[in-house]
Amino acid sequence: MPYFEWFATTVTGLEDLAAKEVEEIAGIPVYPDVGKIFFKGTVEHAALINYSSTMINRVYLLLAREKVETLEDLCSIARRLDYTWIIDPCQTFAVKAERHDKRLPFTSIDAAGSIGRAIIENFRTSTNIKLKVDLDNPEVEFFCLLRNSEILLGLDTTGESLHRRYYRVYTHRAGLQPTIASAMIKISGWRRNESLLDPMCGSGTIPIEAAIKLKNIPPGLMRKEIRLEKLKFVDINMLKELKKKTKECINLEAVTDIVGSDISPKSIEGAKRNIEAAGVADTVELMIRDCLHIDRWLTWEPTHIVTNPPYGVRMNVRDIVEFYRRFVESIGKASPNSKLTIIVSKPKIFTSILKEKNYRITSSRETMYGRLRATIISSEK
Ligand SMILES: C[S@@+](CC[C@H](N)C(=O)[O-])C[C@H]1O[C@@H](n2cnc3c(N)ncnc32)[C@H](O)[C@@H]1O
Repeated sequence: MPYFEWFATTVTGLEDLAAKEVEEIAGIPVYPDVGKIFFKGTVEHAALINYSSTMINRVYLLLAREKVETLEDLCSIARRLDYTWIIDPCQTFAVKAERHDKRLPFTSIDAAGSIGRAIIENFRTSTNIKLKVDLDNPEVEFFCLLRNSEILLGLDTTGESLHRRYYRVYTHRAGLQPTIASAMIKISGWRRNESLLDPMCGSGTIPIEAAIKLKNIPPGLMRKEIRLEKLKFVDINMLKELKKKTKECINLEAVTDIVGSDISPKSIEGAKRNIEAAGVADTVELMIRDCLHIDRWLTWEPTHIVTNPPYGVRMNVRDIVEFYRRFVESIGKASPNSKLTIIVSKPKIFTSILKEKNYRITSSRETMYGRLRATIISSEK
């Protein structure tokens, strides 16, 4: 099977973890970059990553990676490429562009339009057929990323971003991206036979991500489809075989103690719907509880506490400090041997509270929580 170059997007700050996960899934070397990773592999590798990765958003076939200064540079790159092996004449296509380089003298809309025109012209010259554009629901989508005077032109093999999980039937208004939840579990050091508690679980994302790791459920495979399945150069029989093999690795019987609790009955109701949809209701227990009084209700010590407290956007600093302090005090009393992994918006405040309560910081890393900066801190007594 021929090898191609690929790149895959992930959450900024988690690139090394995503790279490691992809190396484990596909067994190939992976190189982290800002907000993305690069690798060389076959179409089968790309499919496997789409099906099994928990930290990747989208996987792209890399068509061009070059320096650009002007719109003309970009057009000439797009005109040089052959699209006839990628798009079937009856398929619709679209180009999306993101410009993260303000020095470039054109907009992302200019870039998308120019590449789109180059694709149509090229295709017509080779085949005499005019391709149709569909910006809302294209069958084939190209992606142009402009950063540091460089263009990455890729062919999307994913479709809807992989962070939109199959199980999210209930959406929490402050729901954590499952890709970040998965990375937090990795950072915590949780292993399949260990227990885990999320005492502010909202819609259940962290417990569900732990449970799908436990059962080896490949989240991308549980979706209706990925875009790769529609691309003309992809061998459908190879994909069928790969899906079959990947499904055979699912272990629905696996169970351990994974608990989610939240003070909001509405969230717990929603989390119940999500764990059912995820197929993990047999291993995730949910309860309505106040995390500021864990010491009054927790009767066992989980190996790991992994959690995502309220971001505090609408809280004043004194309230956040108070909330964090009462929470750390309460878990310190109830479960002093648990390792704590948490994502917070005010890392300095949280770190000083941890130290005050005799916790040792074992790791701390910045990431992006949507458009907000956040820090994932791990600690233990
Ligand atoms: C940022 S959200 C968590 C979102 C969750 N990770 C998800 O993906 O849906 C914070 C959660 O903390 C909960 N919360 C706030 N105060 C709490 C308390 N005292 N005890 C337990 N949960 C609390 C809120 O109800 C909310 O669901």
